[in-house]
Amino acid sequence: MIDSVEIRSRVKGVAKLIHEDYEGKRPILLCTLKGASPFYTHLCDALQDHRQGYDMDFVRASSYEGTESSGKVALSGLNFESLKGRHVILIEDILDTGTTLAHLVPELEEKSRPASVAVCTLLDKRLDEGKIKKYTAKYVGFSIPNHFIIGYGLDYNELYRDLKDIFVISRDGINFDASTLRA
Ligand code: XMP
Ligand code: MG
Repeated sequence: MIDSVEIRSRVKGVAKLIHEDYEGKRPILLCTLKGASPFYTHLCDALQDHRQGYDMDFVRASSYEGTESSGKVALSGLNFESLKGRHVILIEDILDTGTTLAHLVPELEEKSRPASVAVCTLLDKRLDEGKIKKYTAKYVGFSIPNHFIIGYGLDYNELYRDLKDIFVISRDGINFDASTLRA
């Protein structure tokens, strides 16, 4: 769907937008693991090109199995106190229904009392007609059609994160027996 050259180019564009909004400030870039990890790395790199300062932090926000969004979210590995009074930019891999962020952002605001929270997502899935997103991100890399996506950090049951480009998963990709892979 999107190759690595196109991804890197758009990531630079998103970094420019963030720099324009945060110049003179030092936001905390909060990476949601594991999926946003490659995006986070490349975004940090692009922000450094603008001499944009930032602090780094990581949070595990997951309970997503198979291809259906469960909506159940648990945050772990984050010191909420450390975000107090800070400008937080939550870095996400993909925004789908918005259920995850509609839970996560208010929880963060309540527990951390940050100066501000903005969300930056690499991918924003267009929903079926009539469906309304429960959360809208401030920064979006790509708006994509409603397919299950893998690669560039995105997984299907932990597989395919290591792919360099972004793909729509195939039937073979869903049926693949991971036990045949080498350790
Ligand atoms: P919601 O619906 O809460 O979903 O906005 C956001 C979370 O669901 C996961 N997700 C995906 N993961 N390919 C993936 O690998 C996809 O196409 C996909 N769609 C949703 C993801 O964890 C995201 O944070
Ligand atoms: Mg996932």
